[in-house]
Amino acid sequence: MELTRRPRRLRKNENIRDLIHEYDVGLSDLVYPVFVMEGEGKKEPIPSMPGIFHYTLDTLAEHMKEVWDLGIRAVLFFGIPDHKDAVGSEAYRPDGIVQRAIRQTKEAYPDMVCIADICLCEYTSHGHCGLIRDGRILNDETLELLSRTALSCAQAGVDIVAPSDMMDGRIGHIRKTLDENGYEDVLIMAYSIKYASAFYGPFREAAHSAPAFGDRKTYQMDWRNKKDALVEAGLDVEEGADILMVKPALAYLDVVSMIAEKYPLPLCAYSVSGEYSMMKAAAGNGWIDEEKVVMESMTAMKRAGAKILITYYALDIARWLKKQ
Ligand code: PBG
Repeated sequence: MELTRRPRRLRKNENIRDLIHEYDVGLSDLVYPVFVMEGEGKKEPIPSMPGIFHYTLDTLAEHMKEVWDLGIRAVLFFGIPDHKDAVGSEAYRPDGIVQRAIRQTKEAYPDMVCIADICLCEYTSHGHCGLIRDGRILNDETLELLSRTALSCAQAGVDIVAPSDMMDGRIGHIRKTLDENGYEDVLIMAYSIKYASAFYGPFREAAHSAPAFGDRKTYQMDWRNKKDALVEAGLDVEEGADILMVKPALAYLDVVSMIAEKYPLPLCAYSVSGEYSMMKAAAGNGWIDEEKVVMESMTAMKRAGAKILITYYALDIARWLKKQ
């Protein structure tokens, strides 16, 4: 039999491959996470995340110039406060560290999309994402504080709030609070599908936010499940989310794909700290080709159906794209 179908014809040379290829990673897909802390003149490395630092506001200003000049147009802020307490009050202080970072960044770069992670765990002395009584998380009482945090970020000029706490009902609560205060235009990017993942390890070291007791399994999702991702996403859509997120990314591309097919909202994949650390470590040892492995992984996230990629590799990717 004569062979007429030859898929290999489509791979004949580089220009043909470029002509027909479907998925790409571009600058406009990227969100760069940034850690900000109190103090002055400091830029502290995070040992398990080479290339990622804690910035004080002045060093952040310098760094933002680099970020902007590389063509990155979206940043996600995490705050490292000096003082933590049982109710995470630094999270919703009008002049908290993240609120000041937003103000400063929007002043220097009004067109930079500023996103604020909305959660209490970096701000609570016990390291949990909500209020705690008798060792249990208080869902409904936490909502009020999350809304206050989101509102204070909106007042500072944030474009998008990204609740990562996983309390039930937080998207609706935050939407209502924003709308009642005249911030109808602030978007909500919901960490809709957030698994209780060991891949967050380096982040918790970076944010000093490991829970002092217990774990986050009563509010973050069980990675042995897939169907409840539909429930979580469905609720967030109903409650008013503008953008959905799946987190972590690389080990959860089946979930990314399922959510992309089911919901017509922009979808974000968060390639978390552990994913970054693994690639950095292997690259640092010369065991993998860093650029190729990172670009392959990011393209896989696009292929699975994500549009937005949150990655600590954003600046490296911007440099690699520039070089092409
Ligand atoms: C806050 C939050 C976490 C991450 C993003 N927002 C930590 C956690 O839930 O433990 C993880 C990000 C990463 O690992 O890169 N709740």
